[in-house]
Amino acid sequence: MKILHIDASSKFHQWSNSRALGRYFLQQLKSNGVEFDIDYLDVTEDVQPHVSAEFVQATYTPKEERTERMHEVLASSDAMCQRVMDADVLVCAMPMYNWTIPSTFKTFIDAITRTNVTYDLLADGSTVGKLGDKKVLFITTRGADLRQGSPYNHMDAMTPVLKAAFAFIGVEAPQFVDAQPLQFTVAEAREAALVRAHNDLDQLAAEWATSMAKCNQPEMAV
Ligand SMILES: Cc1cc2nc3c(=O)[nH]c(=O)nc-3n(C[C@H](O)[C@H](O)[C@H](O)COP(=O)(O)O)c2cc1C
Repeated sequence: MKILHIDASSKFHQWSNSRALGRYFLQQLKSNGVEFDIDYLDVTEDVQPHVSAEFVQATYTPKEERTERMHEVLASSDAMCQRVMDADVLVCAMPMYNWTIPSTFKTFIDAITRTNVTYDLLADGSTVGKLGDKKVLFITTRGADLRQGSPYNHMDAMTPVLKAAFAFIGVEAPQFVDAQPLQFTVAEAREAALVRAHNDLDQLAAEWATSMAKCNQPEMAV
């Protein structure tokens, strides 16, 4: 099994909670007996370009009609799509920036949302996502507390974006572990938020290990 492990925090690595939580989840999977290879992607270092006029023209030109320049323009997006398609699982760890996803993760989404690559455009104009076989976990860290009942609850423009963008390419039920509040609060609340996140990740790792073990079981002879 291959896991594409993505980090998107711009903090110095040793200070990043999302990076630490992502690593923790993978360790927990391993401790639960899950075997996997990692393809690691740091979108703050391997930054995908913003959508340009050339990109738009190239992506909507049928593959067999593309010029050499168009292939060049699409090369990094093609490579990113391939990495996503080669993975069985995506573990994406990221902080909330200004109530939504980091812009580096947005350019990653722009790179992997490609007609006739990660989704098909049908003759009737409808679309079908092609990544329905992937298991996806988003580990998010937030400075404020956006849980239900909090005054910040209505300001979560992160979860809907991630759900919509991934549903479009076929991932209907991504899972979320949201660590919050990690900044705009007192030390005790921060610590409690990290304990909750670790507990959620422990539980999820155990659940994934059980479901993956079931999938790997050989068929019983009758
Ligand atoms: C540029 C920037 C913008 C931020 N915007 C928000 C925000 O809108 N809402 C929020 O709850 N926290 C916000 N935060 C706080 C981070 O989401 C929080 O500290 C998070 O735990 C950082 O994760 P990390 O340690 O992995 O970098 C912001 C932090 C930075 C650096």
